[in-house]
Amino acid sequence: MDLDPLTPVERALKRKRWIRFWVVLALVLAALYYLIFVNTYVVAYEDEREHFLYGSIGSEVANGLPYWVFKALPEIYKEELGPQGYRRFGLLYESPDADLPMGISRRYVSGIERVWLNCSVCHVGTWRETAGGPRQFIYGAPSNNLRLYDFIQFLRRVAIDNRFNAETVIAAINSEAVGGDLGFVEQALYRLVVVDRVREGLLAVRDQLDFLDRQHDWGPGRVDTFNPYKAIQFNFPMGPAAIDDAALNGASDYPAIWQQRPREGMQLHWDGNNTSVDERNLSAALGAGVTPVTVDRDRILRVRDWLWDLPAPPFPAAESVDPDKAARGRDLYARYCAACHGMGAEGGYGYDYDSNRYPRLGRVVPLERIDTDRGRWASYTEGFAAAQNLLYAGYPWRFSQFRKTDGYANHPLDGIWARSPYLHNGSVPTLRDLLEPSERRPAVWLRGSDVFDFEKVGYRADGDGASEDALFLYDTSVTGNSNRGHEGPAYGTTLSAAEKDALVEYMKTL
Ligand code: HEC
Ligand code: HEC
Repeated sequence: MDLDPLTPVERALKRKRWIRFWVVLALVLAALYYLIFVNTYVVAYEDEREHFLYGSIGSEVANGLPYWVFKALPEIYKEELGPQGYRRFGLLYESPDADLPMGISRRYVSGIERVWLNCSVCHVGTWRETAGGPRQFIYGAPSNNLRLYDFIQFLRRVAIDNRFNAETVIAAINSEAVGGDLGFVEQALYRLVVVDRVREGLLAVRDQLDFLDRQHDWGPGRVDTFNPYKAIQFNFPMGPAAIDDAALNGASDYPAIWQQRPREGMQLHWDGNNTSVDERNLSAALGAGVTPVTVDRDRILRVRDWLWDLPAPPFPAAESVDPDKAARGRDLYARYCAACHGMGAEGGYGYDYDSNRYPRLGRVVPLERIDTDRGRWASYTEGFAAAQNLLYAGYPWRFSQFRKTDGYANHPLDGIWARSPYLHNGSVPTLRDLLEPSERRPAVWLRGSDVFDFEKVGYRADGDGASEDALFLYDTSVTGNSNRGHEGPAYGTTLSAAEKDALVEYMKTL
């Protein structure tokens, strides 16, 4: 080799180039590291209602699906879901061209936008006057349309379906119907990483929730609150040897969540297992898929502040309420029901939640007295309460209030017209039916219509004339579905028909 030796100036320049190279490389790596491992940011909403409907609570990080995969699934599974797509599972779109349903929030995690559930997926109700008529939304009401069981079972099937592969996913994303436009680099990312990761996640859920295959379909408007939580958060054994049929089938109706301020200190959840609003909110967030590590507590506190004083919705046909009949009903209600449930304030404005006046409001009635279906009560065990009280350990908001109780709680009945079907398992379609003894309540009926029956007060249960095929047959003889209990002289079921009608008339005003 007879290369000229470098001059001192050339040597200095070369060293400088190397230094520049290393500095640039380090910067690029740092930027990539930040983008992939550190950077998460959310789509934020200024308006409180929008935040409730679309804002993130942190569920996307551990459980979310990439935005484009979520969009592509109804295209890949067109045959199964039909043109309705996610509407089939009762997910609601605010307008026909809305991008995502209510209750689905977005967050960028590791450079990929992901979506998953927030509070409103389970806490927005609807009603309408006629089957074809326009839908009215009620924020904070039970999600009477949502078929979470079907949605989860769909995702569990996708996990093992060979149509879910990188080719079909990319093709569906880039199809005209979905309108994605993945470039070369993104396609490579989907091929190499994203699709496999999603499948792994779905497979894990498939295993953890295999007990769903042994459960009865929860149907629209209900969810098994605690069994999935046991399996996912705590790896509790869920096999037939570990859990009996009653505890396995404890699906509960979604509750209303307005007016949380006066509910602080009450024993709530259907079985009254917790007296703290904040713990109920945080625990609900776990149900939506956040984990103690990924929970976005600030954004949940924003929801909490909004729910604190969210008014109960007024009865939509207020002008049709007969004031004399309602006044007779008020007297009966004060005599029979108010000690347990509270009632409308004097003067007719708002609800009176005063537990000095109504000593049993927000307290638990033992199971043998209330005698409603025991499934939901049995699904919540002492061992599970103990495990829950260890959650968030090390944080100031660590759980401490969860208790196993001996029955079901007396809830305030504010906005009760909008909380049909009734009882914790949603087994009784209307308020008027609840005032009959259980053998005279509907034994088999159609659930899932949001057409409203203003007479009996509740959703129509006899088919709504338009969408029978799409409705769910609710059979009260199925384990967990019993409509018994809350009956006898103390609960108004022995009153005369006219007295019962008057009680219902009064309850329209709550
Ligand atoms: C997967 C559906 C689902 C999601 C998501 C969800 N909830 Fe709920 N929520 C329920 C169900 C079901 C209950 C009743 C639990 C029981 O007692 O069985 C409930 C109960 C509650 C209660 C207590 C109501 C009462 O009076 O007993 C509050 C408050 C609440 N949720 C707030 C929230 C908030 C805040 C969020 C979001 C952070 C949220 N929920 C997300 C299903 C959900
Ligand atoms: C001894 C206390 C007690 C009395 C008295 C009582 N209830 Fe209840 N009520 C309960 C309990 C507890 C539940 C919850 C039972 C369940 O969900 O399993 C309940 C549930 C209800 C519900 C369903 C709430 C929902 O969100 O689904 C309605 C409506 C209701 N009661 C109305 C009445 C009326 C009307 C009267 C008077 C005629 C009355 N109750 C008397 C304790 C009582």
